[in-house]
Amino acid sequence: MLINNITDKYNRPFNYLRISVTDRCNFRCAYCMPKEIFDSGYKFLKKHDLLSFEEIVRVVKGLESFGLNKIRLTGGEPLLRKNIEKLIHKIKTKTNIKHLALTTNGSLLTQKKAKLLREVGLDEITISLDSLNPYINKKLNPLNDDKNVIDAIYTTLDVFNFVKINIVVMKNINDSEIFKIIHNFKDTNSELRFIEFMDVGETNRWDVDKVITSEDLIKKIKKTFNIKKSHPVLGATSQKWKLLDYKASVAFISSISKPFCNTCNRGRLSADGKFYTCLFSTHGNDLLQVIRNSPKDDVLENLFSSIWSTRLDKYSLIRNLNKNIKIKIPKIEMSYIGG
Ligand code: GTP
Ligand code: 5AD
Ligand code: SF4
Ligand code: SF4
Repeated sequence: MLINNITDKYNRPFNYLRISVTDRCNFRCAYCMPKEIFDSGYKFLKKHDLLSFEEIVRVVKGLESFGLNKIRLTGGEPLLRKNIEKLIHKIKTKTNIKHLALTTNGSLLTQKKAKLLREVGLDEITISLDSLNPYINKKLNPLNDDKNVIDAIYTTLDVFNFVKINIVVMKNINDSEIFKIIHNFKDTNSELRFIEFMDVGETNRWDVDKVITSEDLIKKIKKTFNIKKSHPVLGATSQKWKLLDYKASVAFISSISKPFCNTCNRGRLSADGKFYTCLFSTHGNDLLQVIRNSPKDDVLENLFSSIWSTRLDKYSLIRNLNKNIKIKIPKIEMSYIGG
């Protein structure tokens, strides 16, 4: 396949696509889908509005020619999408995508499902876990079932031999848990990723006072553990550190205190087929209509080329320069746009 690497207005390439396969979730994390907003009256996407697996593969094939080589499946909760293994199999057999990963809350990840996902070609799983304390977990997410999530982490270690664990850290809520989490997983082949609480969406009551910066966390962790900074990876969200005396590593995602917009290489595809060039975009380009209305691949490719080559997004950097104030633009919910 001929690859014509594309860059945006700030010379940033495109090589990573996050695909949301559903906007629904069986959890209600306070920082993402607060239960008082996402209640029985909330209007989620209807089944016929969703891209089919064939349509997702068509988009992936179209974007591969611009340099796309990594995909992460997200949601909502991606394992709620029926037969997701079929999508993984199709992507792995019909495209040249090298790295295919999935971010999940783990609640539906049984041993059987994990093995199936591995067999069809999934490369890596990331599981969200905010605390080991059932009381704190219930406070952060009333529908959480801790046991299933922790079982899913060990199942992933067993089946994939590696797991990434995402911990969204909120001041005075779960910050006391970070040491327990490190102690619990330090001897496993895992990467523990501490994420600054982000101002995504309109419903999670974000406030800079609820954020603990990675710098503060690193200072605290250094008092107990020997850690060494790894080489930064261009385009990565996280900065990794090795726990020198143990098998696990820790990593920090500092989108509030140290935004990574300058190297941002990713686009997002919502479950209903809109393409967004930033987590904080207010507008998505409707690829679903394009592919349903036109069987010709060059229509999709020409549209993508014009979208990426004119891209100017740097939301987190701009917010950071504005002293972390809450920027007043209507923002899209994380559960819809895919994290
Ligand atoms: P890796 O492939 O392991 O690097 O995963 P990732 O960090 O790209 O994805 P993951 O789903 O684990 O997301 C971790 C955190 O980073 C979540 O809080 C995401 O919302 C956040 N995140 C991912 N991509 C971006 C981005 O482009 N901008 C910002 N601001 N946050 C992002
Ligand atoms: N801030 C930071 N991370 C968040 N996530 C969801 N909402 C937020 C937020 N407001 C994380 C989840 C999941 C990943 C896709 O995004 O914990 O691991
Ligand atoms: Fe669901 Fe993940 Fe959002 Fe929690 S963070 S509500 S698990 S989509
Ligand atoms: Fe990329 Fe937007 Fe995130 Fe910045 S805020 S890193 S431009 S997705």
